[in-house]
Amino acid sequence: MSQRTEKILAQMSIDEKIYFIEQITTATFVPSLKRPNIITGPDSALKLDKELIYEVGTTLNLIGAETMIEAQDHFLAHSKSKRALVFMQDVIHGHRTLYPINLGVAASFDRDLARELAQMAAKEASLDGIGVTFAPMADLVRDPRWGRVMESSGEDPYLNAEMARATVEGLQGDMGKYNIGACVKHFAAYGAAEAGRDYNTVDVSERTLREYYLPAYKSAIDAGVKMVMTAFNIIDGVPCVGNKHLIKDILRDEWGFDGVVISDYGAFDEMITHGASENQKESAYLAMDAGCDIEMMTSCYAHHLKELIEEGKISEAQLDKSVLRVLDLKEELGILDNPYRSVSPEEAKRVQLSPEHRALARKGAEQSAVLLKNNGVLPFDKEVGSVALIGPLGATGEIHGSWHCGGKAEETVSVYEGLKNLLGDKVKYAQGCQIEYDSEDTSLFDEACQLAKNSECVVLCLGEHQDYSGEGNCRASIDLPEVQYKLLERILEVNKNVAVALFTGRPLAISRLDKLAPAILNMWMPGTEGGSACANLLFGEVIPSGKITMTFPRTLGQCPIYYNHYTTGRPKLEQDDLKRVPYTSSYIDAPNSPLYPFGYGLSYTSFEYSDYKLSGTVMRAGERLIASVKIKNTGKYRAREAVQFYIRDLKGSCVRPVKELKGFEKLELDIGEEKTVTFEITEPMLRYWTRNMRHESEKGEFEVFIGKDSTCAPFAKFELI
Ligand code: NOJ
Repeated sequence: MSQRTEKILAQMSIDEKIYFIEQITTATFVPSLKRPNIITGPDSALKLDKELIYEVGTTLNLIGAETMIEAQDHFLAHSKSKRALVFMQDVIHGHRTLYPINLGVAASFDRDLARELAQMAAKEASLDGIGVTFAPMADLVRDPRWGRVMESSGEDPYLNAEMARATVEGLQGDMGKYNIGACVKHFAAYGAAEAGRDYNTVDVSERTLREYYLPAYKSAIDAGVKMVMTAFNIIDGVPCVGNKHLIKDILRDEWGFDGVVISDYGAFDEMITHGASENQKESAYLAMDAGCDIEMMTSCYAHHLKELIEEGKISEAQLDKSVLRVLDLKEELGILDNPYRSVSPEEAKRVQLSPEHRALARKGAEQSAVLLKNNGVLPFDKEVGSVALIGPLGATGEIHGSWHCGGKAEETVSVYEGLKNLLGDKVKYAQGCQIEYDSEDTSLFDEACQLAKNSECVVLCLGEHQDYSGEGNCRASIDLPEVQYKLLERILEVNKNVAVALFTGRPLAISRLDKLAPAILNMWMPGTEGGSACANLLFGEVIPSGKITMTFPRTLGQCPIYYNHYTTGRPKLEQDDLKRVPYTSSYIDAPNSPLYPFGYGLSYTSFEYSDYKLSGTVMRAGERLIASVKIKNTGKYRAREAVQFYIRDLKGSCVRPVKELKGFEKLELDIGEEKTVTFEITEPMLRYWTRNMRHESEKGEFEVFIGKDSTCAPFAKFELI
């Protein structure tokens, strides 16, 4: 807090303070939308005071520099105190130029890329007058049915923490003109929703919470994130927004976070629906008592906080703290001096979707894509005479991802456009089937097969629509629809030179596709430049190097399936995976192993790992060991490789995962080139939440692994003494 913000606080009436920590929609203050304000607009149910509404501190949603200026002008003209608004907005995988969904960006295993993409998004958003984005989403995920896995970075606490940090760094930078504030979400463990159903119950032990779910949020806090958003779910029976243990004990007291905490949309009222609060007054009490500063899109504070203060249940000092945090954020954003901050309609037009930004989005999509299978058909030869592009996702811009916010399908390069730009008129398109998951329509098959028959190679765009993932978009079945398989089978009858370009917002259970398709290139939802990236990858202009950060199951029945599980007392041995071994932890009708494991992804080149070394066999606290390996590009293309480093703690006072990612490095190697990669091992890396709930290491033996993916074998052991 500064003297300046304290002085502002001292001038505020209690009503102003309370309204200051309400967040409503930006549309309320945009007269030209003709649906403004609290009477008829989206905020009408909030029943807010018509004058005090001009004292709110922040708003959410709505994109566009001109809109922002109009809103701020209108607001300041009507506000008595004239304290300018902060505009907040979901900028999740890009703003106007979209980059791949975050699960894709994580697959790049490239921290610098994640940072650069976030920086680009921040620049575009800042020029539209946005002050804070509700990102990064740092929720660890294990259930591909959950629609929001698309905006997470997957199942690993270390990788999630690295990606969360890089994203915060990219968004916030030094909080200059082109930076915006970041808000890590959804605190906490929103990704553990039972049955992969959004907003559903979460039940994790304190140990699991700390071990797996919390590290990524903590990493964002350590990187200086300005805000934290609470999750919709319960933790230990208490909705997160009113969960004192989470917000006060862990976030504020243990981690020392003194920035702004905001609720998720409508979460105050949802405490009543959860059955955790009697009414809005109790919700206001629970949230303020837990430490939630801003209420998003409900009006419990507005209607009840004053009463709670008068009754002595909440102190005015508590309210003051929340107001000060928001004022401090405004000061940091420069809004106290300049209500319009970096907004610039002219510059926004130049910068958003500029060739440079499109190029970066394309690079993002190229680095995120994962080659899941290749029997040798890929890369296709650019000199090929004719290309059939088939599939319901082949000629649409609706592949940019479900958090498209400011992005538009018509500005997105479809695969058809991408292929045409690269190869010209030899590319012909047929839709083949519909994208709806329940479509059985085969009427377009014949036309598609005819085209496939008359072409030298076939690019078949399959998968799910971008709106089948994202908030509220969960699926009970994660295989491809039958009609897509039928189409593939029919095409294979006339042409075997087929590569499937897969579009998805989640891991899919595609064992059947893996058997049938000669090659599968997983593009995720690749953003504005998705089609260009897809063309470049299929035709060898760029070599695939992404690796999945969330396990792909063989069948949904294996879920939740993740690499860093515990061993159990009756593990099934890996070599027995395909047979039935009674009374082991296994299935009768499916192996334990996934279709594609965490960290898996192929290349058009080959890499040879050799000369594995560990610098010692014992280590004391304060010392370090070095693990190293030589990696050689033994194939035909210059390419990148994500090298992964894992450790296993063989015995603990609490059981330890079979393997834990502790480091990764993305290398680029020329044909025939060899490099040594090293990873440092220190005692803090070996700490975990032990039996007595302390974060500490325990003496004993550890195994060390370096490899291409999470199935790699240990090559050395050391002892912590
Ligand atoms: C609800 C979502 O859960 C959250 O992630 C998002 O930031 C808010 N809505 C605001 O749009």
